[in-house]
Amino acid sequence: ESFFRNSNAMLGHKVLVTAGPTYEAIDPVRFIGNHSTGKMGFALVESLLERGAEVILIAGPTQCEVHHKNLTRIDIKTAEEMLSAATKHFSNCTGGIFAAAVSDYRPKSIAEQKIKKSSDIMNIEMIKNPDVLKTIGGLKTDKQFLVGFALETNNAIEYGAEKLKKKNLDLIVINSLEDEGAGFGHDTNKITLLDFNNKTTKFELSSKKVVANNILDYLMKLKK
Ligand code: CTP
Ligand code: CA
Repeated sequence: ESFFRNSNAMLGHKVLVTAGPTYEAIDPVRFIGNHSTGKMGFALVESLLERGAEVILIAGPTQCEVHHKNLTRIDIKTAEEMLSAATKHFSNCTGGIFAAAVSDYRPKSIAEQKIKKSSDIMNIEMIKNPDVLKTIGGLKTDKQFLVGFALETNNAIEYGAEKLKKKNLDLIVINSLEDEGAGFGHDTNKITLLDFNNKTTKFELSSKKVVANNILDYLMKLKK
């Protein structure tokens, strides 16, 4: 059975999307972040809205913008804030697409005052962040779909397959940084889709909007 009764519209479906980086504070003026711009996640949001879906977007710090009557945007900074927003909203959704670049670790404690420079070497002790997608994968019901991303520099398909399984996903979008024009900051992306049946499909380098539509077309045909 397909997740969508009508194959050409997502009308009546609510989809949770995560996008952008997370910022993990070190002290009141500094943070640990990453190069994610949020472009891929926002392109997915636009495509979902165009197909008639209602979207709950949980966005990390980003310049991207989208306005629509069917969009609810929740701005967060940290992985923990993303997790609490995602767990609050996922049960009311048909599914989720997790495109955010979540920091895997955060500083173990946040200094109350600006840290002064002192010795030549400085260490910041870090603690593991919750895995938002894996947590939601554990809460997912049979009727809900879950799409994740995997950003890899090597052994992309193998690592992607491990993530699909470990996080209880239906579909994973594999991004290899080995591919020219793919990844951070680009307006284009080159992806491979891997579904829960272990089927891989490679796509050409395309604009992030075309990639978003490729992902949604695939998802709408995917049968349980
Ligand atoms: N993800 C998440 N919460 C985290 C880390 C990752 O929700 N704390 C999600 C991302 O949004 C993405 C997927 O998990 O959809 C895979 O992220 P990625 O960084 O590629 O994988 P990790 O499981 O973090 O493994 P690693 O970074 O070690 O490759
Ligand atoms: Ca990671």
